[in-house]
Amino acid sequence: MSDEHNIQYRAEPGGSLKGKARVPGDKSVSHRAIMLGALADGVTEIEGFLEGEDSLATLRAFRDMGVEISDPEAGRVVVKGVGLHGLKAPAKALDLGNSGTSMRLIAGLMSGQSFDTTLIGDASLSRRPMRRVSDPLSSMGAAIETGADGTPPLHIHGGRRLHGIDYDMPVASAQVKSSLLLAGLYAEGETRVREPAVTRDHTERMLDAFGYAVNRDGGWIGVTGGGRLRATGIRVPSDISSAAFFIVGASIAPGSDLVLESVGINPTRTGVVDIMRLMGARIDLQNERLEGGEPVADIHVTAAPLKGIDIPEYLVPLAIDEFPAIFVAAACAAGTTRLSGARELRVKESDRIQVMADGLQALGIDAEPTPDGMIIQGGRLEGGRVDSHGDHRIAMSFAMAALCANGEILIDDCKNVATSFPGFPELAGSLGLHLSVGAADG
Ligand code: S3P
Repeated sequence: MSDEHNIQYRAEPGGSLKGKARVPGDKSVSHRAIMLGALADGVTEIEGFLEGEDSLATLRAFRDMGVEISDPEAGRVVVKGVGLHGLKAPAKALDLGNSGTSMRLIAGLMSGQSFDTTLIGDASLSRRPMRRVSDPLSSMGAAIETGADGTPPLHIHGGRRLHGIDYDMPVASAQVKSSLLLAGLYAEGETRVREPAVTRDHTERMLDAFGYAVNRDGGWIGVTGGGRLRATGIRVPSDISSAAFFIVGASIAPGSDLVLESVGINPTRTGVVDIMRLMGARIDLQNERLEGGEPVADIHVTAAPLKGIDIPEYLVPLAIDEFPAIFVAAACAAGTTRLSGARELRVKESDRIQVMADGLQALGIDAEPTPDGMIIQGGRLEGGRVDSHGDHRIAMSFAMAALCANGEILIDDCKNVATSFPGFPELAGSLGLHLSVGAADG
């Protein structure tokens, strides 16, 4: 157990990233494929499913509610849909591990069931804000109890009649949007949401793919309850959020030349490409095509000198998961990078503003956290020891930082890399990062 808690990465300085690689399937799309497949009429076949702990938590939750779902085999999963009203009461609380997406989206779905459910998670998930979904779901008629301060566990009472609402979202959050739209499948009338800024639209696209009409009217996105989902085939693209570590790594490591194959380039997700290009990165999207309703491309990255920028705020929701990696790019860039309008980073798997600032400072970089962002003076990274605080994206970002560091970087608490990127150390090693995995000695 203590080994599990102390998985430590040791990243040696230097090296470059070269070759061709395929990163694992998209986490957001994998969650939604299980959820909609489980609730559809008929059998859904998923290819490219992410076999990471987060999407597996969603898979197990639906098994716990009586849905027959095959064990993933090389990314292939078969889901025998039970229809929108076919779920069974789970025998125990649904444990969603580290996964905020699972908890918030499933909370929407559970609000419309005939039975009670309890949703629990690990220590990190148990600190994350849930009122952003429980409040609007309650306005739809749901009965949800949260823990103190609006955190998990969530106790969701079944047998409630939901009704559609118009909800102007106070935060740009695809999880909130999706939670309400999924509850809307069970509501009388239309459930509509309006986002303050565009966020990832995988739920809308996948509802379309399952034959469920999504109404788009001005800025409003709506669904009308009482329809059905028709099973379909889903091909999950590689996750641009996982590709992001390599996009940054190949940009900062002299001599790098890397192709990342079949990566999802849904325009609601490509903020990292735009931001890195503004910083001077050399990124080509090749072979652009549509696969299963989602645009994909091969991403070719070569090393380039980076410069600091003021990150445009409209790109923040489009790169929300990629800031740990982008901060590393900023640390290796010439000049100052400023991020603002990104307060949401404080309530992710960790407080990504504080934890990244602490880590960069430990490596000799002038990184000043602000309430909603960070100011980073690019410089030369020294070796040192940083704590990922159990945050997968922070662990992988600091591993990449070694490519432009002067000394070895030790990264503590890396076990949660498996939530989104199983096989990261092996893949990174095969492309040229000098990374070893061991148990920390305290
Ligand atoms: C996700 C939405 C984002 C993102 C998360 C996945 C999703 O969260 O950070 O990793 O699949 O809908 P917010 O929508 O809360 O910003």
